[in-house]
Amino acid sequence: MNKKLDRRDFIGNLSMAGASLAIGMPQLSFGTTINDKPALLGGPKAHPTSFPSWPIVEKSDENALLEALQSKKWGRLNGQAVASFEEAYKNLSGAKHCLAVSSGTSALYTAMGALDIGPGDDVIIPVYTFVATYNVVVLNYALPRFVDTDIESFQIEANQIEQAISPQTKVIMPVHIGGSPADLDTILELGKKHDIPIVEDACQAPMAEWRGEKVGTLGLAGAISFQSSKNLTSGEGGALLTNDKEFAESCYDFHNQGRYTFDPNEPYSPTRGTNLRMTEFQGGLLLAQMKRFPQQVNHRWDNAAFLTSLLKEIPGIRPAKLYEGVTKSAYHLYMFRYDKREFQGMDRSKFLEALRAEGIPCSGGYGMLNKEKYVTDLAKNKHYLKIYGEKTMKDWLEQNHCPQNDQLCKEAVWFSQSMLLGTRKDMEQIAQAIQKIMKYAGDLKKA
Ligand SMILES: Cc1ncc(COP(=O)(O)O)c(C=O)c1O
Repeated sequence: MNKKLDRRDFIGNLSMAGASLAIGMPQLSFGTTINDKPALLGGPKAHPTSFPSWPIVEKSDENALLEALQSKKWGRLNGQAVASFEEAYKNLSGAKHCLAVSSGTSALYTAMGALDIGPGDDVIIPVYTFVATYNVVVLNYALPRFVDTDIESFQIEANQIEQAISPQTKVIMPVHIGGSPADLDTILELGKKHDIPIVEDACQAPMAEWRGEKVGTLGLAGAISFQSSKNLTSGEGGALLTNDKEFAESCYDFHNQGRYTFDPNEPYSPTRGTNLRMTEFQGGLLLAQMKRFPQQVNHRWDNAAFLTSLLKEIPGIRPAKLYEGVTKSAYHLYMFRYDKREFQGMDRSKFLEALRAEGIPCSGGYGMLNKEKYVTDLAKNKHYLKIYGEKTMKDWLEQNHCPQNDQLCKEAVWFSQSMLLGTRKDMEQIAQAIQKIMKYAGDLKKA
């Protein structure tokens, strides 16, 4: 920063340092970029450079795509790239079986299909999730049962799952939101106790671990997404992990028009299914990234821990809690809660605006899924009324309350995974930006 510091800036810097000490903030190496005036009020950006862009493209990715192209075997039924990726991902995740599919939604849909979930069945899902978790349930005309959120972890409130279980419950589908594991000890125990399969929506959580084991491999099945924003991506794509051979075979059949068994040498028994196959281009591209992927996982994990050590010292900023069983988070998202009471009552929208002005991309995350019209209209859906009857659908709507989640949706702030691939200095500058905003919250409220 070449800017000459005026007196006000200087005093501001001193008070920033004082504030850091007062709140026990570790000494940050901001160098000469310290300036306590927020960018939204005309000061320089706390983060003047850019975060790593996503996706990352290397020569090996280009080669993999060209290889698939020139092989003239573009589909998995002809080529080898998808099968090689499945083998590599299976080994990386420690699952006994890995089936590559066209998307994370397809992976969940395949699991639902192989379990023959249909009208009259209940599926338990968290309310704090991407709409795909809900969609795969209603696509099968099953009834989604929302469970509220543990506001501290952003994960499904595992202690409230049991009260949502009924004789109709056919699947419990926890989501490892943001790439951090849900409370799997409680969830797996409930699955065992009630003999209900657990299908983990691990779409955001490739390589996350619960007590040293990769999530997605602990329930009956786990779904991973390789959509554009994800930590490992082929634009679109997904994988289904399982340790159950019979289930793996059913999944393979389902994703392949129900027409072929897992082993092409065995006679096939036609079953329900569709085409959810991955292409050789996707398989090749994913395979090419496998070498750098574990290193990126660790990079995010280390940076997230460092960022948490900085942010947790700032009053009103509450990084999402990791459960005691978490040995690794994939940090697809870095999530925290913003308490406006510590920021002179400044609304979250202004906080987000001010943070963006500092050069820190951020969002407020999910809305209240259970209250979206698209979801509440299910109670009026003609097929649902026919299957479940008016009373059940009316009760379903009335029970559809998740107060902790309502609160969380008002307080959440997200950073994306690629920001965590930045440097320590990037992390420090995030913390600095928030401190500046906190100090000037009164002025920012008026801006
Ligand atoms: C929690 C969750 N579930 C399911 C999906 C669906 O994955 P895809 O977009 O690959 O279909 C996503 C991806 O966005 C997700 O975040």
